[in-house]
This record gives sequence, C-alpha cells and structure tokens, in this order.
Amino acid sequence: MIKPTPIAEIVATGRFLPDNVVTNDDLAERMDTSDEWIRTRTGISERRIAPDDMGAADLGARAATIALQRAGLEPGEIDILVVSTATPDRWLPSTACDIQALLKCDNAVAFDIMAACTGHLYGLSMAEGYLAAGRGEVALVIAAEKMSAILDWNDRTTAVLFGDGAGAAVLRPSNGSGRGILSSHHQSDGKLAELLYRPGGGALDPISQSVLDEGRHLLKMQGREIFKNAVRSMAEACDIAMQKAGWTANDVDLLVPHQANIRIIEATAKYAGIPMEKVFVNVDRYGNMSSATVPIALDEAIEQGRAGPDANVMTVAFGAGLTWGAMALRM
Ligand code: COA
Repeated sequence: MIKPTPIAEIVATGRFLPDNVVTNDDLAERMDTSDEWIRTRTGISERRIAPDDMGAADLGARAATIALQRAGLEPGEIDILVVSTATPDRWLPSTACDIQALLKCDNAVAFDIMAACTGHLYGLSMAEGYLAAGRGEVALVIAAEKMSAILDWNDRTTAVLFGDGAGAAVLRPSNGSGRGILSSHHQSDGKLAELLYRPGGGALDPISQSVLDEGRHLLKMQGREIFKNAVRSMAEACDIAMQKAGWTANDVDLLVPHQANIRIIEATAKYAGIPMEKVFVNVDRYGNMSSATVPIALDEAIEQGRAGPDANVMTVAFGAGLTWGAMALRM
C-alpha cells in the first residue's frame, strides 16, 4: 500500500491546567459519593478546577502562549486560529476571537468549532484543510474547556467526572518531511444528541427563571449509553484511521485516547489491539476535560519522551453530538 503523504505537521504543543486540585475526597464532602466509587468506576482521583475569574479564553490563551514559544513563533505570524470549546465564555463572539484579542494575533482568521470532546481532532483537520488550500502557513489549534461552569454540582452522576484545562498545537505544512497527519476519520450521529447535552439556555429555550430553576442549562448525561457508544465508535475510528495510514496495531507506538474513563480507555485499546503499555493515561489526575484531554495528553506524552520524533501516534476521541474521530500522526 502507498503510504500517505502528510500535508500538515504539529510542530509544537502546549498545555495549561489551573492550580486548584480538587480530590475525590473533597467532592465527597459536598455530595453523596466516595473516593472508592469514583476511582473504581472511572479511574479519576483528582481534577483541576479553574477560579471564577478564569474563563475558557484565558485557559486557551495560556496553553497557546506556551505552544507558540516552543514553535519560536510570534502571535502575528498565525494565519488560522481554530478553537474547540463546549464552554464558551459568552455566546457572542466566538472564544477564538476572544483568544485572538488576548494573544494579539491580529493577522489570523479566528473561529470556533463545536464538536464537544472530539473538538480538537476536528480542529486539527480543519486547520489541515486550510493549510492544504494554501490559505496560510501557520495554524494554531486550541482546545479550551471550563467544564466546571456547566456542571450541575448537585448531580453526582456527572459532577465527579469532569475538570478544567486547555491544550494547544501549532500546525505547519509538512514540506516533504514525512511527519504530520497521516490520516484521519471523523464521524457524528445527531440522532443520539440527547445522551449528553445541555437541554436549555439556547435559542429555542432561552435563559429564563424556569431554565435556571430546573437546571436545564447544565450538562445532562445517560452514562451507560454513552459508555457503550464510546467504546464502539472509538475502536471503529481507530481501525479506519489505521487502515488509511497503512498501519496495523503493531505500528502504533502510542495511543493517545480521549480521557473520559479508564474503563473506556482500556476497552478501546483492547478492541484496537493496542496493549496498555502503549496507551497514554492521565485521566487519574485531570478527569474529563472534554476536547482539551487529547492535546493535553499529547503535550505530556511529548514531554515524557513517549511521542518523540518519528513516533507513530494514534489519537482518538468521542463526545457529545455524538461525535467521534481518530487521527494517525507521525511525530
Ligand atoms: N458516587 C456514588 N454513587 C454513584 C455516583 C457517584 N458519583 N454516581 C452514580 N452512582 C450510583 C448510581 O446512582 C447507581 O446507584 P443505584 O444502583 O442505587 O441506582 C450506581 O452508582 C451505579 O450507577 P451506574 O450509572 O449504573 O454506574 P456505572 O457503572 O454505569 O458508572 C459512569 C457510571 C458514569 C461512571 C459510567 O457509566 C461512565 O463512565 N459512562 C461514560 C461517561 C462519560 O465518559 N461521559 C463523557 C463522554 S465524552
């Protein structure tokens, strides 16, 4: 099989996690749960929670600043700025425009994409497309999530699962290096939207006293259904992205999956035929930060030397929409 020629490569990454660590025991003091329940069902021990005055744009700008420094680029050199977030600071304008103002990257076209936890992979593909079309030389792809702002802190079935954080990646054309995005596969199924969603507070059911009283603006989830769909769709996406990249499971040096639940990660890796030694896990420390999990995990993997030059890295994610996707990267 002819190996795909990558169009765009990740030249630098960055991450930002708020300082405030909230442990399972801390949560057990404010709701009917326990460290034992959370750890055995999810693998999560603690998560970071951003302060009230730190929003998604702030989180994202901090991660991006690190990625830009590592890439040796000035903000003015960015042509395309794509931000994925399920927790925009405000409904208008986009969080990307707010981040653009913070970074002072005045020459960029800036816009948000909404694909929940799969958002970073969709964002990378979107940036890849812009670069492929010759619309620029430098793309900055950010995932910024303040999940704590949309959780129902009285609902133990969701509140214990999520955390706040941001990750960023700088993409440039590959220029024949052989490194970059080898393949990707993205999919969605809107029929299953109500398995994981915020029912109210938008255009159809604008913010009102009844929305607030009933918490319709907060995250609702059918955990078991999500679990089943997550494993099936991530395993399938991995298979397709591997095939398109001309890889078998043995070719994968590291799997960087969405960090929602250790049991979902283990089941996905098993279906994909990738042993757990080759799977990056940090869900224990951060919980589910929606689209920010993949770029944060990738950044940590690079820092730890687990995704060094020429490593074959498979990333895979799943989230509300439902959306899912996988991307094969040669680092
Ligand atoms: N602490 C203690 N008990 C809890 C709890 C908590 N935080 N949350 C739920 N429970 C209880 C339930 O009320 C239920 O009690 P019951 O049997 O008396 O009714 C019991 O634990 C089992 O609940 P169940 O929902 O069947 O547990 P589960 O094994 O399916 O695990 C999840 C629940 C949420 C951990 C699991 O379904 C999951 O991870 N789903 C995927 C979620 C996800 O990743 N979403 C984001 C995708 S991007």
